Amino acid sequence: MNIVLLGAPGAGKGTQAAKLVEEFGTPHISTGDMLRAAVAAGTELGKKAKSYMDAGDLVPDDVIIGLVTERLQGDDTANGFILDGFPRTSAQAVALDAELSKLGRPLDAALLIDVDPEVIVARLTSRRMCRECGYIGSAADGAACPKCGGEMYQRDDDNETTVRNRLDVYETSTSPLIDYYRGCELLVTIDGDRDPSVVYADVKEALDL
Ligand code: AP5
Repeated sequence: MNIVLLGAPGAGKGTQAAKLVEEFGTPHISTGDMLRAAVAAGTELGKKAKSYMDAGDLVPDDVIIGLVTERLQGDDTANGFILDGFPRTSAQAVALDAELSKLGRPLDAALLIDVDPEVIVARLTSRRMCRECGYIGSAADGAACPKCGGEMYQRDDDNETTVRNRLDVYETSTSPLIDYYRGCELLVTIDGDRDPSVVYADVKEALDL
């Protein structure tokens, strides 16, 4: 399972990736999670990325490409990986192809989780995440995570103004990748505006799982 999850912010990429990880144990490579961890740890990368993330803009390609190519070289990705939030620009897609061809690990599919932008605004402004285990849900700020008891919080970029900018950035920079992966005959589109378990059934069917 060498896959890319495509889709607008809030389409449900992280939700579906978590289900795949739980059932199959495939490594989940989320650039958003990697960047948030760097920000929380106060690393140089985190300091560089924070202002872009807070505004809902993309972190520069040279920063993110190096991070992902290094991660893909890990032994744990030899039997599969789920890329979530990468690639997001044409330059990232080209760099990914080059790295995977070097590693001899071609992509099996690019799954596009398709959701209407107005549905997304409502989803993201009510999303809460667990600081400890990354569980995604909609509990009140400060409530306990139903999975591990950790603190649920709202991401800094989940306010309406930033969400709308993230949707604009997606439309301009990332949606061209839909045609790119269609041209590579890797694109599978899944209606993401249904119950997550119904979406997941389609994800598994698309991957022959
Ligand atoms: P990132 O963390 O990747 O954010 P994103 O793409 O905006 O995606 P999200 O995590 O917000 O949404 P998701 O699709 O995973 O949805 P989720 O499953 O949580 O990136 C953050 C920032 O980092 C970027 O803005 C950028 O600055 C930077 N960055 C990251 N990667 C980069 C890159 N490659 N290049 C440059 N910069 C980069 O679901 C959302 C909500 O909906 C949840 O509340 C969930 O419970 C709910 N939900 C999910 N599925 C359903 C469903 N089927 N029905 C109803 N509700 C649902």
